[in-house]
Amino acid sequence: MTQPLPFPTPWSNEPVIRRLWFGERALWREHLLRLDPQARRDRFAGLVSDAFIRRYCDEADPFTQELFGAFVDGALRAVGEFALLNRDWPRRAELAFSVERPWQNQGLGSTLFRRLLVHARNLSVSRVFIISEPGNARMHRIARKYGMALTRDEHEIAGRLELVGPSYFSVMEEVMEEGVAFWRQTPDLHTITLGR
Ligand SMILES: CC(C)(COP(=O)(O)OP(=O)(O)OC[C@H]1O[C@@H](n2cnc3c(N)ncnc32)[C@H](O)[C@@H]1OP(=O)(O)O)[C@@H](O)C(=O)NCCC(=O)NCCS
Repeated sequence: MTQPLPFPTPWSNEPVIRRLWFGERALWREHLLRLDPQARRDRFAGLVSDAFIRRYCDEADPFTQELFGAFVDGALRAVGEFALLNRDWPRRAELAFSVERPWQNQGLGSTLFRRLLVHARNLSVSRVFIISEPGNARMHRIARKYGMALTRDEHEIAGRLELVGPSYFSVMEEVMEEGVAFWRQTPDLHTITLGR
């Protein structure tokens, strides 16, 4: 039987930020269904029903869309969606974010945003976009923080950022973050490294 670690890891109180595996897509759907009306409006540009969210998740293409999650105490509370818009050059991708209300304003959106930018660089994506509601001040604050140019039309605000290609450090950053997350979320691995 797996036993808990006898001492806290250096990151024991911090959320685990990592890529979601294909088999975890149901967790993403449950997370989106937990969004309150305002967050649904901000995420989907309108107050969408549970049926809409279920269909959205069922129809998502796992070959072009990747999900990165923030797990707090083991539960998925925030997601960054990375959708590759084309495979030829120059590559473009759209990013979208959702954080459940009790976990908003605690840095999860910013962390996921940075994580998706690093992932985009490592895939040689040269331009990323976001689409958001005009009143979504938090999203706009994060977008500007990471250098996005925002333009406004009548109904929405679009953000756009040009990226440089991958570097040794961007690749290592992603590999190490995924490695740490894997180690933290795999109890058997703790046991193995402790020699039990
Ligand atoms: C928008 C969203 C992704 C942001 O994630 P978050 O985890 O709440 O945001 P963070 O805590 O990382 O950062 C919020 C930033 O906005 C700032 N902020 C908070 N309230 C603000 C306000 N009213 N006006 C301007 N800035 C504000 C914070 O100070 C912080 O900036 P800082 O890091 O420079 O201090 C999240 O709130 C969410 O999921 N909302 C509902 C869905 C949505 O809007 N999705 C985006 C459309 S794709």
